[in-house]
Amino acid sequence: MHLLTTVVDMHRQRRALAGSVGVVPTMGYLHEGHISLARRARAENDHVIATIFVNPSQFGPGEDLAAYPRDLPRDLDLLEAAGVDMVFVPSTAELYPPGYETWIDLADLPTKLEGAQRPGHFRGVATIVTKLFNLTRPTRAYFGQKDAQQAILLRRLTVDLNFDLDLIICPTVREPHGLAMSSRNAYLTAEERQRAGVLYRALSAAAEAYERGERDAESLRRGMAAILAAEPAAQPEYISIAHLETLDEIVGEMRVPALASVAARVGKARLIDNVWLGREVG
Ligand code: PAF
Repeated sequence: MHLLTTVVDMHRQRRALAGSVGVVPTMGYLHEGHISLARRARAENDHVIATIFVNPSQFGPGEDLAAYPRDLPRDLDLLEAAGVDMVFVPSTAELYPPGYETWIDLADLPTKLEGAQRPGHFRGVATIVTKLFNLTRPTRAYFGQKDAQQAILLRRLTVDLNFDLDLIICPTVREPHGLAMSSRNAYLTAEERQRAGVLYRALSAAAEAYERGERDAESLRRGMAAILAAEPAAQPEYISIAHLETLDEIVGEMRVPALASVAARVGKARLIDNVWLGREVG
């Protein structure tokens, strides 16, 4: 596995690749969710590139940039075992050199859900992913369902900026009691991890009600709120049933596929999770 750290080397190595290229962008501190993306990329492409970059521009003031967990040696071992060919691990100065001033802003999607709680976050995500797409020129790029708004917004960006690639959204990988795998789960104690399973219990209840034929969005939100309220360790930030493409909150009867999503604080962690209603993840 090649380790690349500079833009010049990344461009040079990419130019030498013939055939399809699967790209897995990450911020490192990898878990089984990331590895499932790498394995899928391995199965579907001639070459696989992973990127590891804790992107400062997607962290707001007071967020956990400095504390964000890191373990590069372990990440490299895991990626090599998953069959990744190249890992791009640039420094911040390499991607945001002095004088940097180009940003990618989507008009509407970043104002919803996570974006409403984290102003500027998706500007940072859209910018770095655009740069990584330009550097790695994927045939297919792999993102996790757990960050559903990110994936939906990046799919929009891919269409809008005419990137010639397939953006593939892979199902969330979960811990045994349902908690979605996330690098930020490292902030939870063992007890909090158990209790944080309440997010998925609430979402599963919404999915089951939907399967039984419930189509009143407010009733699904109420059901999730009641389950979350019964777990004192969880402080919900939002509970949403939204249009799966526009991310507008659905009012009244659900006539289109929907994203059921929640964000909640548990201990020191801010957790998000979602299920899709009326459409397979992909
Ligand atoms: O999902 C992540 O880990 C990050 O937001 C991404 C897509 C690698 C961009 O920094």
